Amino acid sequence: MPEAANVMDRLVSLAKRRGFVFQSSEIYGGLGSVWDYGPLGVELKNNIKERWWRSMVHEREDIEGLDAAILMHPKVWEASGHLAGFTDPLVDCRQCKNRFRADDPRIKGSPGQPDAQCPVCGSKGMLTAPRMFNLMFKTFMGPVEEAAAVVYLRPETAQGIYVNYVNVLQSSRQKIPFGIAQVGKAFRNEITPGNFTFRTREFEQMEMQFFVKPGTDQQWFEFWREERMKWLVGLGIRAERLRFHQHTPQELAHYAKEAYDIQYEFPFGWQEFEGIHNRTDFDLSRHQEASGKKLEYLDPATTERFIPYVVETSAGADRTALVVMVDAYHEEEVAGEKRVVLRFHPAIAPLKAAVFPLVNKDGMPELSRRIFDDLRKHQKVFYDDGGSIGRRYRRQDEAGTPFGITIDGQSIQDGTVTVRDRDTLLQVRVAADGLAGYLAERLRS
Ligand code: GAP
Repeated sequence: MPEAANVMDRLVSLAKRRGFVFQSSEIYGGLGSVWDYGPLGVELKNNIKERWWRSMVHEREDIEGLDAAILMHPKVWEASGHLAGFTDPLVDCRQCKNRFRADDPRIKGSPGQPDAQCPVCGSKGMLTAPRMFNLMFKTFMGPVEEAAAVVYLRPETAQGIYVNYVNVLQSSRQKIPFGIAQVGKAFRNEITPGNFTFRTREFEQMEMQFFVKPGTDQQWFEFWREERMKWLVGLGIRAERLRFHQHTPQELAHYAKEAYDIQYEFPFGWQEFEGIHNRTDFDLSRHQEASGKKLEYLDPATTERFIPYVVETSAGADRTALVVMVDAYHEEEVAGEKRVVLRFHPAIAPLKAAVFPLVNKDGMPELSRRIFDDLRKHQKVFYDDGGSIGRRYRRQDEAGTPFGITIDGQSIQDGTVTVRDRDTLLQVRVAADGLAGYLAERLRS
């Protein structure tokens, strides 16, 4: 296994070189902790989001989809508690003007006291006492930049679901228990972003809010905890690198009664990338109170009225993509040469296969093109006729492409091609006519 400390550096460099992730606005020196997905990265993240959507919305009768807007009425954030409670404690250095989280481990002493030492300029007694800093991005709606026009970029997608809960319930004719799922952007003005795409200021969430009868929440909480872990293992992530972490009372968010993180063992340690939260009736009750609109559910069977409890599964699409990349990254030796390979689960690999004419003559390019044109109707595939076949294989190993299809002299004679498996390196001959079916079979799971 490559040395942990350097793995992230090598992964970040591969991500840029191969077109997974670029720094935002790089030609202007970059924008802090904002990242862009390149051609391979966008395929990978889309595949993850689609797989999530399929498992949540298409494969279940009791979950509906939603795409709520990023901008919401400012009262939403008052009611949700984000205006008052979505804060981090910050301290400023009066000497060098740098700003830190109050719990920054580099700070010696207690901020606000004479013994406190700035971790950047080293001045003593210049750090202010901690002040609470709200993590929501503010902007203005309409032409006038005044307090009454302030709106926020949502810090979680969940609130768009709560305020639409009655709309979805009525239009879909669902009954409790049922869920609403959404994938979308969220924004947080993080004070200490970092570790590549792990903590960023703009990111995507895949959230599902499951509305249940109070008293059944514990059982649904357990159900969704298990389901989410199963889904992640099904994504090909190594189970031994995944674990649950139960929130202590100090860690619980303002809305949660109980919460578990799902953590992954990154090269920089165990870190959360998904959470399962029992949010009780906190959000719906607060919105009912603040909006004056009834958000109660009338149980048709018992005629009982209640505000549903919510069990939330909240995943970051970017963090999940990072977990998938880190987990897939392998350096190994093949025939005396170093190879870097991303062992993505074939279902989420950005490219499913690459098509290679062995040489650019003797009818091989023509047959290769025909095969490529046929395959790309079904899958995202790549055509590469540049350089030695060994180099072409290596390039696809780095992209995580599960299958390499080579068209050689024999292909022209008998219409078969070789299919190389990225992981086993085994090659089999397959009839070119049956390739689409062969790939579909190997990619199914
Ligand atoms: N609705 C609940 C909620 O937002 P959270 O634990 O604050 O809960 C859920 O966030 C997930 O969103 C995290 O597990 C993580 O994957 C992702 N996430 C949160 N903040 C992030 C950030 N600054 N950068 C990237 N992903 C982030």
